[in-house]
Amino acid sequence: MQIAFCAPAAPATGALAVTVTTDRTLGTRGQALDASTGGMLTRAMASSRFTGKKDEILTVLAPANLTNSRIVLVGLGKPEDVTDLTAQAAGGSLYAAVEKSGETTVALLVDEPETAGMTSSDFAVNFALGLRLRSYRFDRYKTKEKPDQKCSLEGCTVHCADPETTNACFKTLTPLTDGVALARDLVSEPANVATPWMIMQRCCDLGGLGLTVEVLDRNRMTELGMGALLGVAQGSAAAPYLVVMKYDGHPEGPAEPPVAFCGKGVTFDSGGISIKPSNGMEDMKWDMAGAAVVVGVMAVLAGRKAKVNAVGLIGLVENLPSGTAQRPGDIVRSLSGQTIEVLNTDAEGRLVLADVLSYAQERFKPKALIDLATLTGAIIVALGNEYAGLFSNDDDLADQLTASGKAVGETVWRFPLGDCYDKELNSDAADIKNIASSRDAGSIIGAQFLNRFINGVPWAHLDIAGVTWAKKDRSVVPKGGTGFGVRLLDRYVAANHEAA
Ligand code: BES
Ligand code: MN
Ligand code: ZN
Repeated sequence: MQIAFCAPAAPATGALAVTVTTDRTLGTRGQALDASTGGMLTRAMASSRFTGKKDEILTVLAPANLTNSRIVLVGLGKPEDVTDLTAQAAGGSLYAAVEKSGETTVALLVDEPETAGMTSSDFAVNFALGLRLRSYRFDRYKTKEKPDQKCSLEGCTVHCADPETTNACFKTLTPLTDGVALARDLVSEPANVATPWMIMQRCCDLGGLGLTVEVLDRNRMTELGMGALLGVAQGSAAAPYLVVMKYDGHPEGPAEPPVAFCGKGVTFDSGGISIKPSNGMEDMKWDMAGAAVVVGVMAVLAGRKAKVNAVGLIGLVENLPSGTAQRPGDIVRSLSGQTIEVLNTDAEGRLVLADVLSYAQERFKPKALIDLATLTGAIIVALGNEYAGLFSNDDDLADQLTASGKAVGETVWRFPLGDCYDKELNSDAADIKNIASSRDAGSIIGAQFLNRFINGVPWAHLDIAGVTWAKKDRSVVPKGGTGFGVRLLDRYVAANHEAA
């Protein structure tokens, strides 16, 4: 999908798009088009239910006196409510409205000097960002699509007053949209392709961006004593890896403590011996989304040369039952020295993360540590597919992540932590057990387990089980892998950790 910024003049062919605010208020470009078509846009709106609400679209086929093919009206809602996110959603909605329409190009005519209270340049950039995010496709395994099933749209031009500057501004977002696409790709790949080895290789390929990538294999992890992660891996023929991606961009140099991101990378979660029901088990190919988001955000930071030191660590394992699989009741020794009674082999993400979190803290002494994991089904019961669960031992960190999520449209909702929950994890046989005796507060229990491996560092855990996979299209996220977390963490770094 090509996106280009051009001078204001509308092209003579292809589809045109203009924005409309409530109630049926055309912007400057829409008014001009309406006048040149004898009031056709006004009539079309009057004879339809389109009033210019956010996410509303009205397509009008162009009249005889225009050489263009159609005019698409894009609703923005009330002008006083229009934000970056509104502009992004408008870009996504326009893309969805024309992608399979038969049109090959669409031109957005941006109002000057501003669009619903935003400068035309800000509007144009955010609009293009939404369009880019929505136009993501994962279709590499579809070999038999007929031409009329494929997307027809090849390009979008955004017509605004200062196309060069606007284009330069949009170009700075390329690492971000690439990072989101990378995370979505990894999440979407099936588990026979996105194996621990394959994801490790993809990380190594990122060396070219300026990341230092280091791989700990099974031998090294055995030497170090990562019994919790290795116990999960032992039922699969696929070798586990812990990948460390380091990026040093802080002007103070590599001595400045980094921000650390840790990801759960279970490439397939069958549940192990505590096997899951077969219905829906295919979803567990995306149980590595936490890792995918960490890879994506590290690529973004390096790609845009962020002025921050950051380190990403992902634990890559496959959770399968076999003759060598770990059993319910097994006791493993984690890197922290704490012993864990594994009462349910399906509560494996926390076992993997326990060792990754210990290693991250011990080795990097990060100033903040954020982990992402598709950790519990219970978070879907609580929050559905709208918010990710946030758990933190630090109010400032929690507030920063909440604000960043809100700003980019990847919202998070904080849950409590506390000793009253923590005590449910005391084991009769070991230092800790990996599940509580009841299913109550399952997501909090999962977070409390992780908390036992945190030693004083400001830490936050994002349970992304509900937001990682979209079952239906959303404004800037087509159905499938969402990449949820990449934009949030990029914003969090930009807003809180980057040197001026
Ligand atoms: N990967 C799952 C959590 C999950 C479930 C993610 C559904 C996405 C969709 C995790 O490893 C798991 O199996 N959790 C168990 C924990 C339980 C055994 C305490 C769960 O949620 O049932
Ligand atoms: Mn599981
Ligand atoms: Zn899992």
